[in-house]
Amino acid sequence: MRLYAIKGGVPLAGEVEIGGAKNAALAILAASIMTDETVLIENVPDVRDTNVLIAAMESVGASVIRQDRHTVKINGSQIHNFVIDDEHIKKIRASYYLLGALLGKYKRAEVPLPGGCNLGTRAIDQHIKGFRALGAEVVLKNGSVVATATKLKGTHIFMDKVSVGATINVMMAAVMAEGRTIIENAAKEPHVVDLANFLNSMGARIKGAGTDVIRINGVAKLHKSEYAIIPDQIEAGTFMMAAAITKGDITVKNVIPKHLECISAKLVELGCEIEESDDAVRVVASKRLRNTQVKTLPYPGFPTDMQPQITVTLGLSEGISIVTESIFDNRFKYVDELVRMGADIKVESGNTAIISGVKEYTAAKLTAPDLRAGAALVLAALAAKDMTTIDDIKYIERGYEDFHLKLQGLGAHIDIVEAEKDLQKLNFQVVS
Ligand code: EPZ
Repeated sequence: MRLYAIKGGVPLAGEVEIGGAKNAALAILAASIMTDETVLIENVPDVRDTNVLIAAMESVGASVIRQDRHTVKINGSQIHNFVIDDEHIKKIRASYYLLGALLGKYKRAEVPLPGGCNLGTRAIDQHIKGFRALGAEVVLKNGSVVATATKLKGTHIFMDKVSVGATINVMMAAVMAEGRTIIENAAKEPHVVDLANFLNSMGARIKGAGTDVIRINGVAKLHKSEYAIIPDQIEAGTFMMAAAITKGDITVKNVIPKHLECISAKLVELGCEIEESDDAVRVVASKRLRNTQVKTLPYPGFPTDMQPQITVTLGLSEGISIVTESIFDNRFKYVDELVRMGADIKVESGNTAIISGVKEYTAAKLTAPDLRAGAALVLAALAAKDMTTIDDIKYIERGYEDFHLKLQGLGAHIDIVEAEKDLQKLNFQVVS
């Protein structure tokens, strides 16, 4: 089992280039099969999630040519099958974006129901509600969602709760429906906007993405496009938090500062200095951080995907901090691992962490429970003086490209080993 080996205690400093947004790429890759013409997509992050989705697209007949590590050419004209098999959805839930894309273009799709995950239940009732509102027949059978329609007709849809995935999936199903669709209570995340901009570049007619009311006029066909994906808000936020927790000085480059405003504002509350330029944000943390309160909210609120990262940072701050998780019902499972490093955190009623800051974390042997919690444990290890190991790093590699190499570039003592026995080979051995 491949492990990260991390010898922390070193303030990280320097510049790091941020890659394309994973969660925008997943939606845009799925949507790219909605035209029979060729689509060129740049700034695709080379991470496990995007590679698994590309494999799922190829499995139904799409042709995908990787021009370079971050550029793919896609043509969906030869798609012959509308059934996504289990192996893909088991690896990533976001394969369900092919439901909206295939239903939107071919009026039929069959995708296995995504299982639960470490964040709690992951219902898709709002996705199904939207498809049915557009006139699709949606049945759940043999563990799959089967959606079919003779035609899709624009309608007025009120989401019962703000859902990124449901907004994305329903938008894709609606862009080629007959007539006008209005999605109320839509998610406003940057990746929802990026998908809308991409679909519009293919000839769709979407207005209002980024607000809670999205208006779509259906079109009969979509055409070719060349598109570059926005930078990853959460990868950038993770490196900004790395500066805070290691008392370092990191500049994240190739970012959209507007997307990071809520994260920057919290870092200022913690006592960090923030410098913004057109496409970069610098975070300097020179002294012990202050405490604060955080509640995760849909965009533009504090992102749930940054909740583990700020919680581990607050674990070393002065005083009592409170972090409330309002999006997922079980996103504090990693706290048990953090307590093994000396953190003083109590999770109340499943969604509120009461954090009493400690002076330091001690190294430990950890397991990454999921993608963002795994990245947060890496941050905690970077602040702990001795050698920490983190296994199950495949979770982290789902959403972070070259994570250990980018951290090495900032001065971190981190590397990947195949097994514990290889630790002594590392050149940043702990002097026993
Ligand atoms: C997307 O997940 C992201 N994944 C998640 O990022 C992110 O945490 C989440 O949005 C919130 O921002 C991708 O974009 C691939 P939701 P998604 O639908 O779409 C409930 C990462 O680390 N809900 O906005 O699944 C749901 O259970 C991942 O990159 C319903 O009840 O999130 C959750 O409690 C982790 N019914 C809440 O809404 C539905 O039909 C928000 O979920 C849909 C969702």
